Amino acid sequence: MPETLEPEIVLIYARASNGAIGHENTLPWRLPADLKRFKSLTMGKPMIMGRKTFESLPGLLPGRRHIVLTRRDSWKSEGAEIVGSVDEALATARTSATDEIAVVGGAAIYDVFRPLAHRIEVTEIHRDYPGDTFMKPLGPEWVETRRDDHPEAGENPAFSFVTYERADKAGA
Ligand SMILES: NC(=O)c1ccc[n+]([C@@H]2O[C@H](COP(=O)([O-])OP(=O)(O)OC[C@H]3O[C@@H](n4cnc5c(N)ncnc54)[C@H](OP(=O)(O)O)[C@@H]3O)[C@@H](O)[C@H]2O)c1
Repeated sequence: MPETLEPEIVLIYARASNGAIGHENTLPWRLPADLKRFKSLTMGKPMIMGRKTFESLPGLLPGRRHIVLTRRDSWKSEGAEIVGSVDEALATARTSATDEIAVVGGAAIYDVFRPLAHRIEVTEIHRDYPGDTFMKPLGPEWVETRRDDHPEAGENPAFSFVTYERADKAGA
């Protein structure tokens, strides 16, 4: 019998130098390369998100499940799989045949899933932006295992795609 592995939990976000990740329920920047990376990291994967992030999307993202956390009994939206707890979100995501579960925000959701995450994919944007939703830098339990740097280009800020893994797992 082949061994059945638990899917990895992967947090995916973009963060400005000052920690901003959101402003007025949208992204503070327009960075096409980040949207492209988000698509390639999430395609075919079940995505877990908060109700506010779901409502900030331009629409349903094709090829991905939208598992949405809310505490509101009456909330519903076409295409959203509604869950009321972290455990229910994970149990729902695990019904997909997948090697990864993508946790895609926002800050409230990253906070509760970070202790459970195996990997974090961050787009570090090397510029400050106005924001109303912020993320702290990662603690020493996370180590950088990959970095791709991109210079400023026209209107677009410099940014880096950075992978973090747990210090006790990286290089194991
Ligand atoms: N830069 C990035 O990569 C990125 C990614 C995603 C989002 N964002 C930005 O982040 C902002 C939204 O983030 P946010 O932190 O304000 O909101 P959020 O995390 O998207 O959603 C928060 C909502 O999720 C529900 N929720 C949270 N924890 C829960 C739990 N333990 N159990 C059940 N439901 C729970 C609640 O919904 P109810 O109120 O319905 O009960 C809560 O109000 C937006 O500006 C968005 O654009 C940025």
